[in-house]
Amino acid sequence: MNVGIDGIEIRTGRLKLDLPGTFAPAKGEDPGKYTKGLGLHVSALPDAYEDIVTMAANASRRLLERKNVSPADIGRIDVATESAFDNSKPVSTYVAGCLEQVFDGDFTHANKGERKFACVSGTQVLDDAFNWVRAGRSRGRAALVVATDTALYARDDPGEATQGAGAVAMLVDRDPDLVSFGDAQGIGSVDETDFLKPNQQFPSVDGKRSMQVYLARMREALQDFARNGGDIHPDTFSLVPFHTPFPGMVRKAAALGFRHSIRDTSVEDRLADQIGRQPRPEAFDDHEAYLDGIKSYTDELRQTTTYEEWYERTVEPTLDIAREVGNWYSGSVHVARTAGLKHAFETDRALTGKNLLVASYGSGAQAEIHAETVQPGWRDEIAQLNIDEQLDRRYDLTFEEYEAIHDVHNHDETTDLEPFTTPTEEFVFDGWGRMGERKYTYVE
Ligand code: COA
Repeated sequence: MNVGIDGIEIRTGRLKLDLPGTFAPAKGEDPGKYTKGLGLHVSALPDAYEDIVTMAANASRRLLERKNVSPADIGRIDVATESAFDNSKPVSTYVAGCLEQVFDGDFTHANKGERKFACVSGTQVLDDAFNWVRAGRSRGRAALVVATDTALYARDDPGEATQGAGAVAMLVDRDPDLVSFGDAQGIGSVDETDFLKPNQQFPSVDGKRSMQVYLARMREALQDFARNGGDIHPDTFSLVPFHTPFPGMVRKAAALGFRHSIRDTSVEDRLADQIGRQPRPEAFDDHEAYLDGIKSYTDELRQTTTYEEWYERTVEPTLDIAREVGNWYSGSVHVARTAGLKHAFETDRALTGKNLLVASYGSGAQAEIHAETVQPGWRDEIAQLNIDEQLDRRYDLTFEEYEAIHDVHNHDETTDLEPFTTPTEEFVFDGWGRMGERKYTYVE
């Protein structure tokens, strides 16, 4: 059975913070840290009337309308987030409530839930939907899957540099228009304390450690994927979307992944004249010396034309949107897939039948790797995205305005602020109900 993503929509927060132009000078930092080091230009941030529900509902509305799908056609709604504001009532119920304001019919019959495992939960909800359809329990209906987050850090935390806010809505169904999922899956999962939110809004982060954990779990997931029958040869994949907290992280992960996947292949043989063969652990007496050897080999590998061409073709295009929006946590790898496909569409690449290797990661910590095959309807699907218009219309914050909007979204502050933008044809946060629930309205 051919099951995968039938349609995708991206919704960015309506504000933007220029990192090299506004944030770096205010922090007394060199703009190069952002543009060259982290690879980020802009953080997307939510306006005063936006949150994880409005962004999820706005992305979902456009997706269902565009695909001509009614509530009766949806059998489940699953939301992935690490920014939830309720420990009991899932965000998917709020999203369904919003959509019922504008669509005929309701989602009474739809199974709703919320998934949590930091950023990898956005891929776990896809996986759940895939299994549900494959198990024959969908009865011809599709799953609406949404990854939505406001990735905000405490002021002056190093993570503040990588903030972002947005939602990705996806329809999972049989005979999908965009990509189908392969069966092989690789997991690397270990109990880690690199990034967590123990009943607090902003994360406790050990940033440098989280980068090491990302790489370690990704390597395990790649090994597991290969063990489970997955083909990891670099020529197999036209695009390799990674979880992208910031593009600089992906630059590191891509080099490690490429090195691992060329081991014992003709690619390693061809490169041997230039940079030798990869060090093997059995050739070293101690582990430290092996790690030094493998680091030098990777540094040289990154300089080769073979690597540069592979990276330019398969990874670089997936970073186009991330650079302009920052980290969207659970949505981030799905933004990367979309950016890669959008770039392929704009440069007229023939992708039908070609493969993607999708590499997800969540702190705490787990990586997941699976393959996808691009479907014949992909060009029509990608042509309908409006992300460029959304990016262009964002309000550009001054540093003082950024401080004010950060306070508005800080649950410990009670700041009231006039929105910077005017909502039109979208769901907005509209105050609190009698039991402390958040309320939403559709604005014409
Ligand atoms: N020109 C070029 N590059 C520069 C630069 C400049 N002027 N200034 C700094 N850089 C580079 C640094 O060398 C570094 O690159 P490297 O890692 O390849 O060495 C990069 O920019 C970041 O600079 P750094 O000083 O390390 O930033 P930081 O101390 O503020 O921390 C993070 C960066 C990622 C650890 C921090 O933003 C964080 O905690 N983020 C949240 C957690 C996260 O996203 N983890 C990722 C896994 S999920």
